[in-house]
Amino acid sequence: MQKGCVKMDTDRYIVDGQHRLEGQVWVHGAKNAALPILAASLLCDGCEIENCPDLSDIRAAENILRHLGCRTAWDEDSNGQKVLSVIPAPAAVWDIPDALMQQMRSSIVFLGAIVARCGRAKLSYPGGCELGPRPIDLHLSSLKKLGVQILEEGNELVCSVPHKLHGAKITLPFPSVGATENIMIAATLAEGETVICNAAREPEIVDLAGFLNACGARIRLCSDGTIAICGVPKLHGCRYRVIPDRIVTVTYLCCCMTATGEVTVRGAQPQHLGAVLPVLEEMGAQLHTDGNDIHLRCKAPLRAANTISTMPYPGFPTDALAPVMAVACYAQGSTIFVENIFQDRFKQAWQLCRMGADIHAEGRVAVVRGPQQLHGTKVQCTDLRGGAALVVAALGAQGRTEIEQIHHILRGYEKLDQTLRTLGAAIVRK
Ligand code: EPZ
Repeated sequence: MQKGCVKMDTDRYIVDGQHRLEGQVWVHGAKNAALPILAASLLCDGCEIENCPDLSDIRAAENILRHLGCRTAWDEDSNGQKVLSVIPAPAAVWDIPDALMQQMRSSIVFLGAIVARCGRAKLSYPGGCELGPRPIDLHLSSLKKLGVQILEEGNELVCSVPHKLHGAKITLPFPSVGATENIMIAATLAEGETVICNAAREPEIVDLAGFLNACGARIRLCSDGTIAICGVPKLHGCRYRVIPDRIVTVTYLCCCMTATGEVTVRGAQPQHLGAVLPVLEEMGAQLHTDGNDIHLRCKAPLRAANTISTMPYPGFPTDALAPVMAVACYAQGSTIFVENIFQDRFKQAWQLCRMGADIHAEGRVAVVRGPQQLHGTKVQCTDLRGGAALVVAALGAQGRTEIEQIHHILRGYEKLDQTLRTLGAAIVRK
């Protein structure tokens, strides 16, 4: 496996700031669409996932698929984009060892697929993560309604289906992305119809439904956040293209705002960023979208945005908060961030303050005062999007920034340093 996405804990980025960015970059496939699709691939008889990003989280999911008996192979299509093929084997293995569960907490999304495929499953509780506790109560209560029996033995979940998975009406108290995905996948082969009320509406949910329907499932997404799944006896295979990563798109745009310059992000889906693009324009970006291309021109000074509150889709995405916070450090005025999804979304704030930012974070609110001229220093990634925020900040900083623990970034950004170098950034991986 190339060094590209292997977690090298000693690896770091060295960034020399204030190099103007110019040119165009292509955005890779969405990690958070590809992961549930790979879990769902357990239920079909062979699939090829186009535009699959080559990330450490994806490799972790691939390791789980192989442990479960699947054969997987990477290829490239005529555009040089990655295609990951999955050939499931007979439903022999139904457990996920703790070591594999701990590699990636979102492995919980495999639960619904394994139960639907094998009628049983055994896996350990996924750990919390840098964003705080990551409960799975909605996943478990929903799967029980579909007929899954779940015993919690210590840190292990032992699941079985005494009869057959059957349809149910499930109302989620919160539109949980992962719980919606687990229900959709398990309900695909259940007897009868399942209706999910107050389901998540993220583009990644739509993509998972698209993949499953391409394999013969019968899933209907309604505009009010209701999802209806009519169970089918079997799924066939398919070749399916994953949507572009909307958070990586935002990150590239934020890089151009702190470094200043003129960049076109190609292969994006601007309609997935309806709550974010206006904020970037409010902060001083000149944006023009043309089909799947987003053209951004930005020169200092940046302006503070009105209060940014994260919400489930189509609201402002929590994953975009950290990169936009890095931009706000350079903006004239105060920007208030309110995080309504995760408990610890501000961990990068302290690292940004070490670079000279003026951020006061308390509970779910952070206030960023600017403009501050950030300066290079040694900083550490705390989580995936917090790490990306440090790169965004370093590109506008005076001097050299050393960003350590970049394995967090490698979970969700393919070749970030190489991509930024093509735009003129002075960034290397050591
Ligand atoms: C998905 O996480 C994404 N991960 C996250 O992206 C993203 O931030 C999040 O959705 C929100 O959009 C993947 O798709 C792999 P949730 P998920 O279930 O499914 C609470 C990234 O950077 N909750 O919608 O875990 C939970 O604690 C990652 O790529 C329960 O209380 O998100 C959180 O506060 C970070 N009980 C809130 O709901 C449950 O059973 C949102 O969780 C499940 C969730």
